[in-house]
Amino acid sequence: MTEARKSVTAPNAAGRTDRGMEQNGVCGADRGMEQKAVCGADRGMDPDTVCGADRGMDRDTACGADRGMDRDTACGADRGSGCPAGAEKDVKNGPDVRMEVEIAGVKFKNPVFTASGTYGSGMEYSEWIDLSRLGAVTAKGISDVPWEGNPAPRVAETASGMLNCIGLQNPGVDAFLERDLPFLRKAGCGVIVNVAGHEPDEYYRVIDRLRDVPGIDMLEINISCPNVKAGGLVLGTDPGMVEEITRGCKAHATQPVMMKLTPNVTDIKVLAKACEAGGADAISLINTLTGMRIDIERQTFVLSNRVGGLSGPAIMPVALRMVYECAQAVSIPIVGMGGISCAEDAVEFLLAGATAVSVGMANFINPKVTLEIIDGLKAYCVRHGVADIRKLTGAVKK
Ligand SMILES: Cc1cc2nc3c(=O)[nH]c(=O)nc-3n(C[C@H](O)[C@H](O)[C@H](O)COP(=O)(O)O)c2cc1C
Repeated sequence: MTEARKSVTAPNAAGRTDRGMEQNGVCGADRGMEQKAVCGADRGMDPDTVCGADRGMDRDTACGADRGMDRDTACGADRGSGCPAGAEKDVKNGPDVRMEVEIAGVKFKNPVFTASGTYGSGMEYSEWIDLSRLGAVTAKGISDVPWEGNPAPRVAETASGMLNCIGLQNPGVDAFLERDLPFLRKAGCGVIVNVAGHEPDEYYRVIDRLRDVPGIDMLEINISCPNVKAGGLVLGTDPGMVEEITRGCKAHATQPVMMKLTPNVTDIKVLAKACEAGGADAISLINTLTGMRIDIERQTFVLSNRVGGLSGPAIMPVALRMVYECAQAVSIPIVGMGGISCAEDAVEFLLAGATAVSVGMANFINPKVTLEIIDGLKAYCVRHGVADIRKLTGAVKK
């Protein structure tokens, strides 16, 4: 059994429900579903599944092999979810590359972060990787009081991704401060705290509890939550509300504020500009794309909530396009995410205009993927004669 496989099946790595991570819930293992199958860990990134060949699609067509693309490269089968062979060697033998990046005055040792909600507070992963090597861990979204989340089933597998409707289950800000933050502070990586709320005041109450707390480098504000006072409209889809809430978060926070955008809008640039106008120090994107699956045998919805958020490699080109559009529209730094599963994906986000990247669902398949991405980024810089990783940001040739 490989370590990656062990990680998603071992109770310590996957099963702790006491820390807000609830990976069994995430994976469906709490509902008798085969955890490996839900996570895809039983296949690594099996080319058939990644390409859809297991679902009747012709693998060559799905992979682009019929269009002259190398099948292994197109599928990612040449790298599983890691780096190209030889990356390690390049890193060890190559010249030094400056990997440090700075966002709103905060220095991160490299541009590779974890995406909120996919990493708990890092405890489970610390059994598999040295967290101090990460640029930052972004903690699971926290609210002013504990949230129970949605009932099961709350995950569903999709082609090259997964749907979730966890519903931002979390133990609340007090439990986070008492239990998770002390651990994160000792971990030696950057610490980003993700904040959730149903209305502006709920966000401000969390931020007030985090004010002046040492060891928090930055706040990430998740505005993909439904606004109860506006009939469930997602806060982040209304530019006026986004600007107002950004201004409010800035007024309450003592740490830099990064607004996390929802992709479920017509024009993402408008929302990015609203964040900038409200005084945001940075933006991050994308959160999950709204999706649905129907169980045709039971002829009902797969998820308890009917709809869920789509993440994983399937959304990567959409996320990349949105990062590029935002980079053209605003001058504040961008943390890009959405489907990143290898160093090459991360390079694309940097070239499109991101200063750093966050890795989400890929951690479920390979808990060491972030470290492979850091090494792969460095190897890429060595291969391309780039001495400072910051030079890649926005460097796509037009
Ligand atoms: C199970 C799960 C839970 C998530 N929880 C949160 C959350 O609490 N707050 C948040 O801002 N984003 C949350 N996200 C969204 C991710 O942080 C990320 O934006 C998204 O999944 C796209 O990245 P990926 O394709 O690399 O996973 C969650 C995603 C998943 C899959």
